[in-house]
Amino acid sequence: MDPIAYVNGSFVPLSEAKVSILDRGFLFADGIYEVSAVLDGKLVDNASHLARLQRSVGEISLELPESLERIEEIQKELIARNKLESGLVYLEVTRGADKGRDFAFPKGLKPTLIMFTSVKDIINAPSARTGIAVITVPDIRWERRDIKSVALLAQVLAKQAAAEAGAAEAWMIEDGMVTEGGSSSAFILTQDNVLVTRHNSNEILPGCTRKAVVKLAQERQLRIEERPFSVSEALAAKEAFATSASLFVQPVVSIDGKPVADGKPGAMTNRLREIYIEFARATAV
Ligand code: PDD
Repeated sequence: MDPIAYVNGSFVPLSEAKVSILDRGFLFADGIYEVSAVLDGKLVDNASHLARLQRSVGEISLELPESLERIEEIQKELIARNKLESGLVYLEVTRGADKGRDFAFPKGLKPTLIMFTSVKDIINAPSARTGIAVITVPDIRWERRDIKSVALLAQVLAKQAAAEAGAAEAWMIEDGMVTEGGSSSAFILTQDNVLVTRHNSNEILPGCTRKAVVKLAQERQLRIEERPFSVSEALAAKEAFATSASLFVQPVVSIDGKPVADGKPGAMTNRLREIYIEFARATAV
């Protein structure tokens, strides 16, 4: 069955879902996106994703064409129409399609809003048991990585380099320190059991999963330091892992071909994954 997508007010078969070639998302990457996980047919931590959506569009002076409440209704309708049990809902809003290609914002344009779903068994992903390999690449992105913009070419190149090296993710490096993964947040657990992840700033995307994991860990009295870490610190760590809506908590077992600890998923990582899944199920809407 052709999946159903949403385009500017209509639910249409994905193969017929189209926007203009003059859409500013296409011409300028002038748009924002969000990816929410779906478990048991329900949206995971969606309020956090919608709050970040609102912040991102605000930072580029783009007005949402629908209220956040309506956006969540559309997400839910799309899940229902696709009978999606486990997977992802992608949503993107752009500044719309003009009559030409002016860099400055045109007046009176209606923003484009599209959504589609994809099936993914996040819970039973084999990589959660085996862990993933990451490579490192220079972080060549712009200085507003806190905005979830669709300008993802640096990450496309980083993740392609990872794929060519047989790795699942690329950790991006700036000034000798890991910023984050191409599409995930990066964590380590030090030998003295401190959970370390970079502090939020313009240098990284404020991950919704990262935020939830930090809170869940704090509630369990784990020690947390929000600060940059280097690759050598990660290689000397007890454990490493990545978080995102599409991975939840995913063990990182090697970096540039060198094992993290014994090269197996760590006990704390596995525990945090279970805790996150419990939270996700209990709070999904
Ligand atoms: N990526 N950092 C970057 C650069 C990301 O692109 C993502 C998410 C994250 C994790 O954020 P969250 O926990 O809110 O998913 C961190 C999504 C999943 C993607 O691009 O597909």
